[in-house]
Amino acid sequence: MSFQANVSAEAISVRQSAERLRILSVLNDLHLKYKSLQDGRVADYIPQLAKVPPDLFGICIATVDGQIFEVGDYDYLFTIQSISKPFVYGLALEDHGRDYVRTRVGVEPTGDAFNSIIKLDERSKRPHNPLVNAGAIAMTSIIKGTDPTDKLNRLLDLFQRYTGHSIFADMSVFMSERTTGHRNRAIAHLMLNFGMIDGNVDEALDLYFQQCSLMVSCRDLAVMGATLANRGVNPLTGERAIAAEYVRDILSVMFTCGLYDYAGEWAYRVGLPAKSGVGGGLLAVVPGRFGIGVFSPRLDERGNSIRAIRVCEGIVQEFGAHIFDLAFDLPAAHEVHLEQSTRTADARNGHTASHPPEPHRVA
Ligand code: DON
Repeated sequence: MSFQANVSAEAISVRQSAERLRILSVLNDLHLKYKSLQDGRVADYIPQLAKVPPDLFGICIATVDGQIFEVGDYDYLFTIQSISKPFVYGLALEDHGRDYVRTRVGVEPTGDAFNSIIKLDERSKRPHNPLVNAGAIAMTSIIKGTDPTDKLNRLLDLFQRYTGHSIFADMSVFMSERTTGHRNRAIAHLMLNFGMIDGNVDEALDLYFQQCSLMVSCRDLAVMGATLANRGVNPLTGERAIAAEYVRDILSVMFTCGLYDYAGEWAYRVGLPAKSGVGGGLLAVVPGRFGIGVFSPRLDERGNSIRAIRVCEGIVQEFGAHIFDLAFDLPAAHEVHLEQSTRTADARNGHTASHPPEPHRVA
């Protein structure tokens, strides 16, 4: 009996090692394949971003059971930029509830650039979605806090819960965003004029520029993605980063609006909730399974990292992770039910993973 048990445990562990090796080798192959791709340009709307070495390239996958797979420049720190937006949207939902937030922002993709001012329409009374700049600024403007420092601390705490460690902003990026952000200022003042936001616009803009200037690695992005994939519980720390009920809201807007005017093509080709940032990061979520973080600063004309898009396409192809492929792989209804009750119980019990496994890494 005990011999039997040992044999099957060994078999499982061999299978798991083989699976781990396969994931690492897929990431390594994708890194090798796209390392030579030099298309695109590093964001240069502020000099601080233009200084980032263009060849940097990191890929990381973090699973909902706390495993990390990383390749290349996985720990290089860069500014999170627009990838902060869905997470701040989640905090606004927690602060005010869905009904109120829905009165302040829609969920419609614009098909326009992230900083478009054209679609701001007085009649709609709210920006289209929380991932274009207008909607993101509107969400930042309603984050609760006694004063600007308290609000900033609440954002830092939020990102600490998602990444599992303390987070800081790059002051020179923040100052440059602040001094050159005329378009964002115009968007915010137009929204004030339309009655879409209220309160102190300059304070809201400062907080928005601060959230864009937070420093993360692609490993952090993968862990943040895995936290969403794990219904809001960080798989490395066991800490809840966001109430489970709002994870669906966040993933929905990431799916439809995360890549702006590339969102439709992305949904078709990659089929995952995701968010890009002009710092060169891209975060994608395979719900229930893993988070993907990629960093490569050369961007296409829409402000999305070119290599990161290719890497995500490759990962999805290799693992059949397009959301509409996964849907057909689901276990039978009664198994789903069982699996979900276990997961809910785990989450309620804090899902403790105090000793996350060592990362799997390709040098
Ligand atoms: O609002 C801005 O201009 C930037 N700080 C953030 C832009 C960004 O990352 C757009 N996403 N691709």
